[in-house]
Amino acid sequence: TDDEREARFQQRVDDEERIEPNDWMPEGYRKTLVRQIAQHAHSEIVGMLPEGNWITRAPSLRRKAALLAKVQDEGGHGLYLYAAAETLGKSREEMVDELLSGKAKYSSIFNYPTLTWADIGAIGWLVDGAAIMNQIPLCRCSYGPYSRAMIRVCKEESFHQRQGYELMLSLANGTPEQKEMAQDALNRWWWPSLMMFGPPDGDSVHSGKSMAWKIKRFSNDDLRQKFIDATVPQAHYLGLEIPDPDLKFNEETGHWDIGEIDWTEFQNVVAGNGPCNRQRIKQRRAAHENGAWVREAAVAFAEKRRARKAA
Ligand code: ACO
Repeated sequence: TDDEREARFQQRVDDEERIEPNDWMPEGYRKTLVRQIAQHAHSEIVGMLPEGNWITRAPSLRRKAALLAKVQDEGGHGLYLYAAAETLGKSREEMVDELLSGKAKYSSIFNYPTLTWADIGAIGWLVDGAAIMNQIPLCRCSYGPYSRAMIRVCKEESFHQRQGYELMLSLANGTPEQKEMAQDALNRWWWPSLMMFGPPDGDSVHSGKSMAWKIKRFSNDDLRQKFIDATVPQAHYLGLEIPDPDLKFNEETGHWDIGEIDWTEFQNVVAGNGPCNRQRIKQRRAAHENGAWVREAAVAFAEKRRARKAA
């Protein structure tokens, strides 16, 4: 019966076995994974836009090479992730259509603008730092293809985080104007980075199931706290101030306590009304349309080759 199959499945998960594409799995498990992996893939692809904006304006050849490599990595991550989601039976075309029609979600963070060069540093340091915190546990996700994809993704993310922090370090130790730019970027990216971890545990609809299925290993709030604890000392080392008057080290818990996160802002951004949501989707649609000839050429080539083989 289904109950027995589900119990056997849960036993495999509890025993830390990896679930593979052809294994039996509950429909809810499949759906949750497709949802999360597709959202993750879309985030990587949309995430290329805010930084791509600065490639032509990078201040040196070294910075330009690093930024180019990083943005290309993100494109690669997106493609891996679409491939991982496809093993669960949903086609990449369908996922891309859902992104372009506005039906699919992607990370709230990529709907904020990159106003100055310091934003490239802040994104690497904070956004990629938050991404690593969230993704290292996903290397142990119960679903094999996702967990394996995450291993390489995390290695690359770690380079992204370091190049961002090193950029911030250069600015923070530069002229007063450069230091001010770094502080301004931190001011604008701090709170949105904390929102990347998702709603507070009490409002996280999927966490319960996802934790039982070992898709998620830590709750949204636990990962957010880990990130705060790791990042506050890094800001201090830079000589920058975290934009939170309520930030305080809690001697009892050994953690940094923060002020209230503006969850209304988060909900607005997720609902499509952040500063750059419309621009991002417009750019992705244009890229998709402008790339139509590549897809058509690839199909024509595949058909020619098939015909040649058949002859
Ligand atoms: N931005 C946009 N939507 C979000 C965000 C966010 N930062 N956080 C949560 N949500 C959405 C969820 O997708 C879910 O929506 P849905 O039901 O329509 O799918 C809803 O808010 C409720 O949240 P949760 O129940 O907490 O959702 P979930 O258990 O999936 O946890 C999380 C959210 C932590 C983001 C999880 O999906 C995850 O770990 N994803 C993989 C990592 C990822 O996507 N990272 C992207 C940014 S990093 C990068 O790309 C560089």
